[in-house]
Amino acid sequence: MQHQLDFKHICFQYPNSQASLFKELNFSVKTGELVGILGSSGSGKTTLTEILLGRHRPTCRHFQMLEDGSPLSTAVKWSYVPQQNLLREYLRVSEIFNIYADIHLKTAKANEKQQRIFQTLQDLGLSDFKDKKISELSGGQKRRVSIGIEMLSDSRYFILDEPSSGLDALSDRNLLRTLKIMARVNQKAIVVITHNTENLAILDKLIFLSKGKPTFVGSFEELLMEFKTTDRFTVKKYLDLSIADLYQELNASGRIYDI
Ligand SMILES: Nc1ncnc2c1ncn2[C@@H]1O[C@H](COP(=O)(O)OP(=O)(O)OP(=O)(O)O)[C@@H](O)[C@H]1O
Ligand SMILES: [Mg+2]
Repeated sequence: MQHQLDFKHICFQYPNSQASLFKELNFSVKTGELVGILGSSGSGKTTLTEILLGRHRPTCRHFQMLEDGSPLSTAVKWSYVPQQNLLREYLRVSEIFNIYADIHLKTAKANEKQQRIFQTLQDLGLSDFKDKKISELSGGQKRRVSIGIEMLSDSRYFILDEPSSGLDALSDRNLLRTLKIMARVNQKAIVVITHNTENLAILDKLIFLSKGKPTFVGSFEELLMEFKTTDRFTVKKYLDLSIADLYQELNASGRIYDI
């Protein structure tokens, strides 16, 4: 069964600041979807994440959070992968996965846990490294371990902060594709926070922030529809996108529009 979270009227103001962030942002997140929160430095990505995780309370009077249409009073249980890898260097990959399987899957039988670990290692291309110590892994491999141990969780909703940090362009693309497949197959909603605008077409939903304000919420197709009516300089200003990134993305997706 598909589940949906709706966030309505998100606004936020830091106590010592005049600036009002998010301008009553509305969006939804569905299980099976890969969602991107995108924007340059200072655009509000971390602040929005803190709101989703329930660490900041939105300041709009009409703020509402709904799950499957019913209002929620407490924060949603998200699984969260922070930007920094917090892994003990002396442990082996399989040991870390076993520790997290015990934490996340308390009631599962031993063979179910092993099956989940096996599948997750395989999905993230880590099977060949399972006997290595964390200290022996590359930055990208460590990043995938950090993501994998959270993906063992039974949560429906996941937030990954800069999942691709430390990865080259191709690995970044592959990781996003893997996350999209994991979202579909396991019926999870996966939200990625990133300043990288190179792989927009992989994301099912895009939430662009610019200087604390939402500038676009929708699918990549809808983003392109907007571009069709806008000249390239306006588009650049509008989304804080680099035109080089945009052309690369359009070429890669095989959809060339006259923008
Ligand atoms: N504790 C705070 N008090 C006051 N203003 C803050 C505080 N934290 C962030 N801000 C402001 O809120 C805005 C959004 O900041 P935020 O940290 O959410 O951006 P970001 O998109 O995560 O940036 P980055 O990519 O650099 O991490 C910025 O203008 C920032 O200066
Ligand atoms: Mg940030």
